[in-house]
Amino acid sequence: MIDNPFCYGKTVDDPFFYGRKNELEEIKLSMRNATNLIMYSPRRIGKSSLVIKALKDLEAEGHPTVYIDFFKVSSREKFIELYAREVVRPLKSWEKGLQWIQGLVRGIQPTMGLDQSGLPELRLSIDPVQTARAFEDIISIPAKSKQEKCWVVVFDEFQEIEKLNGESFEKELRAAFQHHKEVSYLFLGSQRHLLLNMVSRKDRAFYNFGKLFQLQKPSEEDAVTFLAERFNAGGYSVSGELIREILDSTRGIPYYVQYLGAEIWECARLASKTPGEIHRQALARLLINQSDYFQGIRSQLTAFQVKLLSSVAWHCYGSYETSFLQKYRLYPTSSVQKAFKRMTDLDILEKQHNQFRIADPFFELWLKQQS
Ligand SMILES: Nc1ncnc2c1ncn2[C@@H]1O[C@H](COP(=O)(O)OP(=O)(O)O)[C@@H](O)[C@H]1O
Ligand SMILES: [Mg+2]
Repeated sequence: MIDNPFCYGKTVDDPFFYGRKNELEEIKLSMRNATNLIMYSPRRIGKSSLVIKALKDLEAEGHPTVYIDFFKVSSREKFIELYAREVVRPLKSWEKGLQWIQGLVRGIQPTMGLDQSGLPELRLSIDPVQTARAFEDIISIPAKSKQEKCWVVVFDEFQEIEKLNGESFEKELRAAFQHHKEVSYLFLGSQRHLLLNMVSRKDRAFYNFGKLFQLQKPSEEDAVTFLAERFNAGGYSVSGELIREILDSTRGIPYYVQYLGAEIWECARLASKTPGEIHRQALARLLINQSDYFQGIRSQLTAFQVKLLSSVAWHCYGSYETSFLQKYRLYPTSSVQKAFKRMTDLDILEKQHNQFRIADPFFELWLKQQS
């Protein structure tokens, strides 16, 4: 049986990775030169996949690398543990790694834990009385243990640091990093508003820390080539028209390109239907699968915000134009203003010129289904 030729829900690499040639080179160039970068984009555009790919290449060139996902950082101890694991990862023997890291970080010790499948696993943990020292030691490893090529340190979903007694954590990191002239730091963030606040406000620790980089969607041309090649690998001869429809309904967002591609491939395998029918059926399946996720987003909003959002969905865009506000009975204007701002801060809406659009094309479809 042929496996589904598409992949979504985890970071991807070849053969599931497309486009991004220039971005990959740009990131690697900055990282080789110890320049700091701050990369942002909405979720699911492909930041993590791109940066992990760059890290693989840089590691092969001899750069020591550290990758930490801040969604996994629940405390300062956890941060130290994850960092330490990254630092010892390339060393062939665990004993050697342990010995090395114990010489560098005070209060670090091996413990037994369980991995995701419940099997015993050797881990590193921190003696609680030594946390402050261990933190200081671990973050200075890239500056202290210099190697031929510079260290590259990536913090993914960095805006999450705010949830961890943010201010002091941020300040301590910055205080140390500003002396690390020969280390490349790369921060990634999905919440534009939070991340940009961290680096563009004068009162924040990471003000002006690095070059801003907004990751855009891959080009349409790359998406078309990818879709044709993947369907072909999956034994389905796709029409140019269906590829067009996929790009239209996903607006070229890589996650949805792969997700809808996967659903279409499944539907096409199960029954022989016309491309139009397959597309509709695949869309319906995708919307059902995403329903919990969309409900989660909607539940953060007030009744008025949901009303405004549904109006935007039906109207294709929202604005302060009287025709829009009157048609959907949206008043007072101050509430509309507040709701637009909150939903833009949450990245649910995207503002372009004076129009607000729903960022996620399938959330838009789902909202229409619900009202
Ligand atoms: N370059 C790419 N080529 C193909 N698919 C991609 C690419 N980047 C992202 N994707 C798709 O999008 C999904 C989310 O990617 P991810 O890198 O986790 O995005 P982000 O970190 O921006 O949230 C992946 O599971 C994959 O399906
Ligand atoms: Mg990511």
